[in-house]
Amino acid sequence: MTVTFQIWRGNASGGKFESYAIEIAEGMVVLDAVHQIQAEQANDLAVRWNCKAGKCGSCSAEVNGIPKLMCMTRLSDLPLHKPVLLQPMKAFPLIRDLVTDVSWNFSVKKKIKKFKPRPPDAKDGTWRMFQQDIDRVQEFHKCIECFLCQDVCHVLREHQLHDAFIGPRFLVHVAALEMHPLDMEDRLEEVKKAGGIGYCNITKCCTTVCPEDITITDNAIIPLKERVADRFYDPVKKFFRFLFANH
Ligand code: SF4
Ligand code: SF4
Ligand code: FES
Repeated sequence: MTVTFQIWRGNASGGKFESYAIEIAEGMVVLDAVHQIQAEQANDLAVRWNCKAGKCGSCSAEVNGIPKLMCMTRLSDLPLHKPVLLQPMKAFPLIRDLVTDVSWNFSVKKKIKKFKPRPPDAKDGTWRMFQQDIDRVQEFHKCIECFLCQDVCHVLREHQLHDAFIGPRFLVHVAALEMHPLDMEDRLEEVKKAGGIGYCNITKCCTTVCPEDITITDNAIIPLKERVADRFYDPVKKFFRFLFANH
């Protein structure tokens, strides 16, 4: 079967979609098609990939307008009677063709306060904790840093508020630290101010695109929002904090 792919070709100064028609075989994923196009028709096509197994988070792009891992998107799941549209992630600066500069994400991560465990519970230097407390944060550690959630989030994608909002990926990271049963650090003021959690209006688009099925909105963002609201907006708690801080 012959399928047409329209792939964005260009760099930060401009570009356009180019059409490539190839013969596809059963079982191919989008990344296979891109490699075939690279081999047969466009040797200079830029694409980032590494594991081809959905685990390195490198091959993120937009397939028919939806943020996806190209190596995990089967051609058989796409409508192939019309051209398949491939373009780079919109939320980050374009380097070339399908490759974007995602380094902003790494600088955001560096600014988040690190894990700070309480002193060991036992003389042998070990800790005690409840299994359900550690189960709660376990799913957050599945993140492969593909940044598809960052790409789909309208705060970064449409409004480009990279200076004011850390995005769903890093709200998951903060939630993993804040909810960890051993962690003693306090990141709530940080997540409210520099993190810009108030910009999230719980549209859940981030949860929809996550290839690791992390329940980003319900399990990470909403509990963090509740903690921020309790700390900064609950008048009763505010009064008691004032009382104890001044006596
Ligand atoms: S739920 Fe919040 S973080 Fe996720 S996409 Fe929507 S606005 Fe962005
Ligand atoms: S939370 Fe999911 S979508 Fe976001 S970076 Fe991690 S794995 Fe990717
Ligand atoms: S190549 Fe590693 S996630 Fe796709």
